[in-house]
Amino acid sequence: MKKILISIIRKVIPTRVYRMIKGLPYLVPDGYRTRIQRYEDIAHRKHKFCNDAKMARLRLYCHILDKGLHRDDWEPGHSVNSYREAKTLVEQLDLAVELKDNSCLVWAKEIVHEYETRQQLDPKKINPLYAKQHVRSGSPEVLLELLQTRTSTRSLKNEAISKDVIKQIALAAAEAPSSCNRQTIRIFSTIDNAESLEVLKCFRGFTGFSEHIPCALVFCVDLRPYTFPGEIFVPTVDASLATENAVLMASVLGVSATLLSWGSSTVEENNRLRNLLNIPEYYEIVVGAACGYPAREAIRPKRKSVDDILFIK
Ligand SMILES: Cc1cc2nc3c(=O)[nH]c(=O)nc-3n(C[C@H](O)[C@H](O)[C@H](O)COP(=O)(O)O)c2cc1C
Repeated sequence: MKKILISIIRKVIPTRVYRMIKGLPYLVPDGYRTRIQRYEDIAHRKHKFCNDAKMARLRLYCHILDKGLHRDDWEPGHSVNSYREAKTLVEQLDLAVELKDNSCLVWAKEIVHEYETRQQLDPKKINPLYAKQHVRSGSPEVLLELLQTRTSTRSLKNEAISKDVIKQIALAAAEAPSSCNRQTIRIFSTIDNAESLEVLKCFRGFTGFSEHIPCALVFCVDLRPYTFPGEIFVPTVDASLATENAVLMASVLGVSATLLSWGSSTVEENNRLRNLLNIPEYYEIVVGAACGYPAREAIRPKRKSVDDILFIK
């Protein structure tokens, strides 16, 4: 009865007024309060800093060293604090069995080794790091066609998506740029039809879809390696870049990945989604995706022109 009454009141009274009466801040809905609490918990180091978070920190310190090693004016002692942090982390992480042959750890060790070797050398004789020039085979036309044919299709076939296809989509996500090379993206997913539906039902915008959705992806970001409050918006940028790579790869593989907003999620939806996919609290959920092979292609909305979005002074 109480629930019905509340739902009637909610329909009649505008949200702004309702929140004012209840003494709730209009600009911070309930879902965001739990989000903000999550950032507070990270800032106060409430979550265990296990090896994956340490690896992200190691990538960050080695990224700082690596930038220096690419410079023409590098000198011994450059970014020594980052070196110390990196060295400590390398020593710790080198003991972890699960990180044996980990490509990022191998890279980090090479950076630390290069840094140490250079300390003994005459700075005038040191060459900055550089890679061989890449020969890129793509063309602007091919890339543009790829971008222009990616569409959100909500009418999907009842056809399973294989693990290999999902892995290729994740591979594209892993190749995205990330702030300070932290690489904090993580995709929680299911390729079970029934489970996908349960997951996707947690997203408000999951509307207008056909009956069978073979796969759900949830793009998340590990908040632990960031520094708050300064970097409060950075994790979302990192996740978004990886997400764009993923949806483009999906498109090339013939899979439509329709993104689903997590912006207006409620506390209940948040708990439900985390339970369904075992998403730890220190991961921020950024966006979902309903994936499948198109039953019929959607007509893609027209885009703004370059003149509308580019201003060159
Ligand atoms: C952050 C974000 C959130 C989105 N949320 C939803 C959503 O909740 N439901 C939905 O059907 N589509 C959603 N979309 C898909 C957009 O509606 C779609 O990308 C846009 O209309 C352009 O169409 P296109 O993807 O076919 O090019 C979202 C897209 C983005 C980038």
